[in-house]
Amino acid sequence: MCGIIGYTGNRPAAPILIEGLKRLEYRGYDSAGIAVEEGDRIQSVCRTGKIAELERSLPQFHLTGSCGIGHTRWATHGVPSEANAHPHLSCDGSIAIVHNGIIENHAELRRILEERGHTFLSQTDSEVIVHLIEDAYSMLAFEASEDDDLADAEGKRTPHTSTSEMLAGEPSLLAQAVSMACGFLIGSWAICAMVASEPGKIVCARKESPLVIGRAATGVHVASDVSAISDAVSEVAVLADGQIAELDARMFNVFSVAGDVMTRVNPETMKLDRRADVADRGQYADFMIKEIHEQPRVIRDTLEGRFDGGELTISELALTHEELNLIDRVCIIACGTSYHAALVAKNLIEGWARIPCEVEVASEFRYRDPIVTPSTLVVAVSQSGETADTLAAIRDARIKGAKVFGITNVLGSPVARESDGVIYTKANKEVAVASTKSFTGQLVSLTLLAMLLAQSKGRLKQAQMRMLFSELSNTAAQAEEILKDADDVHRAALACKDARSAMFIGRGMGAAVAEEGALKLKEVSYLHAEAYPAGEMKHGPIALIEPGFPLIAVATESPTYEKVLSNIQEAKTRGAMVVAIATEGDERIREHADHVIHIPKVRDAFSPITAIIPLQLLARDIALLRGCNIDQPRNLAKSVTVE
Ligand code: AGP
Repeated sequence: MCGIIGYTGNRPAAPILIEGLKRLEYRGYDSAGIAVEEGDRIQSVCRTGKIAELERSLPQFHLTGSCGIGHTRWATHGVPSEANAHPHLSCDGSIAIVHNGIIENHAELRRILEERGHTFLSQTDSEVIVHLIEDAYSMLAFEASEDDDLADAEGKRTPHTSTSEMLAGEPSLLAQAVSMACGFLIGSWAICAMVASEPGKIVCARKESPLVIGRAATGVHVASDVSAISDAVSEVAVLADGQIAELDARMFNVFSVAGDVMTRVNPETMKLDRRADVADRGQYADFMIKEIHEQPRVIRDTLEGRFDGGELTISELALTHEELNLIDRVCIIACGTSYHAALVAKNLIEGWARIPCEVEVASEFRYRDPIVTPSTLVVAVSQSGETADTLAAIRDARIKGAKVFGITNVLGSPVARESDGVIYTKANKEVAVASTKSFTGQLVSLTLLAMLLAQSKGRLKQAQMRMLFSELSNTAAQAEEILKDADDVHRAALACKDARSAMFIGRGMGAAVAEEGALKLKEVSYLHAEAYPAGEMKHGPIALIEPGFPLIAVATESPTYEKVLSNIQEAKTRGAMVVAIATEGDERIREHADHVIHIPKVRDAFSPITAIIPLQLLARDIALLRGCNIDQPRNLAKSVTVE
């Protein structure tokens, strides 16, 4: 979703901002803009569509300034348009802001500000921020000039009382004005602001929406996402909720705010691992296919070092054996693909550890007053680590006294920082909006968690653990095997490409895989797809089946294989065009399916790790045949930072 970038230093800001915005593109957006200080004024340029469009329009503005802010917008309040794109300017054009998040009381604030004479140019919730800062700034500037006059009259004026030369470490007028403005806001925000009268300065504020700041030899950078920060930065400060930061060309200060008192604090810092952040698609046509092919590596990396001396360890869980033993319920919260990984985990946790496990989409969990006690282990799964609903659910669970364990792909992300313990999925940066390799990382991590819980409850003995771990490790080679030959997938894609709708079915593990397969297809090909536990077909969905209707069945070897086979037959008799994912050696299924995609034989518990691969390939193939944008599907964002 929306992204923020800012730079102040000794280089022209515009190219640095554009480079940062390009790195934010993967998050999904529909307009973009930058504002750069040019002498004593601020020049803002906004465009709808791609960053390339914005970049093409820049030469006519001859931007040379070395301080600026930029933004990619994913429309929430107001259509995608130049007027609604950020940066937003104050009425006199002297202040510019960019904002990520949602201002919930924007309508009320807009009404008050309009009554006070402010003119709004956009339909966004964000624009109230710049007008609030404008009011606060003029009030503070007036007070400061009165103080200066008084000091002049009394002959007591010292350099540090000047409005333009604040004491090092004291907040500037802009920082104070931003802080005052935030006091009126309800909602979530990451804000960067500039004012023409304080050249070279950027002020940032955050609540529930990330911002990181890093220093390089040529200036100071700020961004909403570490991957957008210049490569010249090796360590970033992570702004905490409620903090305000002030950047100039050489340094930055961070303040905590209590009422109207701003106190300088040392921010939390984080070293950047650029290897995990490489966004290069190499020889591949798009990031999605590259990321699908990375899955064997993800499995190996996620498992590395986990099983030593006959015991499985997840030290990041930060729970002692005794604490693990006290867990009497597991509650997994997640959204989208991460939710589907959680559905698989439920089967494993209940099956192996015999601990009741609930799985719930975070957006429901957070508004439901769920039963969570100190003996509940809450597991939050999120690739991006910044999904707004998942974060809100984490906060709720912690208030209720539960231990929260995060599973995320992004180092230092809000989910990682707000959880009691965290497993990183080792997928490395995932660029395609449709999650593939991070799903695999989540599956493997959740499998390890289920095994650990079973181990601590004494339900899995050392020999069983060893065998399971070895079979789990083998899935990497099996995934490689599947990826070697995609001809059958391609034939199935050709058969599905002109359909208007498709149905995915499976049972047990296969039901979760079917859900994820249907989501992938919808996301990238815009073909309507539904997933049902195969046993539910007769309770309604079978009415949709007509000759040629694509039915994609996950029919791998499992205790319910025969049942799935009968469900396939029921659909086939009604004319469905069946694509089956089946286990190598299963030739019987050919009698009932039009297309069979075989995958290596694997224990049912681990089948989602391999069975999802042909469905990811199928979704992408169909999308290609339908001429869709593979990596950036319409309307979708990589990080869903608003609810
Ligand atoms: C996956 O392909 C989707 N892009 C989406 O469903 C995603 O999984 C969901 O938004 C959750 O994101 P998260 O894992 O970053 O929290």
